[in-house]
Amino acid sequence: IKKIAVLTSGGDAPGMNAAIRAVVRAGIYYDLEITGVLRGYEGLIHADFIEMDRKSVANIIQRGGTILKTARSDDFRTIGGRAKAHEQLVAAGIDALVVIGGDGTFTGANLFATEHNFPVIGLPGTIDNDLAGTDFTIGYDTAINTVINAVDKIRDTAESHDRLFIVEVMGRDSGLIALRSGIGVGAEAILIPEANMGIAGLVTRLEMGRKDKASKIIIVAEGDEIGGGFNVSEALKERFPQYDIRVSVLGHIQRGGKPSCMDRVLASRLGVAAVEGLLEGRSGEMVGQINRKVVFTPFDHAIKHIDAEEITPAWLKLVEILSL
Ligand code: F6P
Repeated sequence: IKKIAVLTSGGDAPGMNAAIRAVVRAGIYYDLEITGVLRGYEGLIHADFIEMDRKSVANIIQRGGTILKTARSDDFRTIGGRAKAHEQLVAAGIDALVVIGGDGTFTGANLFATEHNFPVIGLPGTIDNDLAGTDFTIGYDTAINTVINAVDKIRDTAESHDRLFIVEVMGRDSGLIALRSGIGVGAEAILIPEANMGIAGLVTRLEMGRKDKASKIIIVAEGDEIGGGFNVSEALKERFPQYDIRVSVLGHIQRGGKPSCMDRVLASRLGVAAVEGLLEGRSGEMVGQINRKVVFTPFDHAIKHIDAEEITPAWLKLVEILSL
């Protein structure tokens, strides 16, 4: 391998820049040429390439977003789109690829690597933390800290007005942002797609809760079956007319901001490991960290979420005990 390309794809996540920096610096360390691909797989299909050197990644470790930009590409979901991307890589003399993203990114990478026998390694870059093969994804720690900082402020005003707040957090298919941040803010209830508590379960939980505490915080993952914060609010208004209910949807503030130290270090470590993995002949795998060790996991396993052990009865019981 002489020349590798790096791209970011799917929803951005804090720490993606630290990952790009690590890939570029590791590439230089191992005497490789490095190409940056703009706008993810879209840029691959359209040969939107830039040459990267040591300086092009200076001063980015602390920045949110991604300097390479990102996109969700419909073309790359087609065989023809992936064939075009392969042609562009070959024409540019690129012989391996590092992709930084989440499950959609790895689904595409898996097909591409198999169809074209092209070396690809993935880095887990998503705020959702919904990949198997790593304890944490790059961006998750920053996102949950963004959530707790926001909800602490909401708690202040909720306390002052004796209000019930429903706070909707991101996580289309995963409740991991809701679960951890909910525990971190001392939420009275947490609604996540993996547990399906439903309105009936939520009502029971609220009825079990302290009657002398008027302010309450309920964290709802956007992917919960009830359908987001406003739906939960409507359902609760009927059941608890005595509560003064407000809804706050945190939205994309969860995707931005300076990455935490945990995310910067994780991204840095995994970025270097990705390049070393390619040089050792690895392909079709995501590099992650489990129990502080770097591990490689095949893409088709990583995207199945099957090691998302945090959603276990023990965690849900913890929420129940703490929310009394
Ligand atoms: O996958 C990351 C994520 O932030 C999800 O939590 C969220 O559902 C989705 O992306 C939002 O995507 P978009 O920015 O395209 O609206």
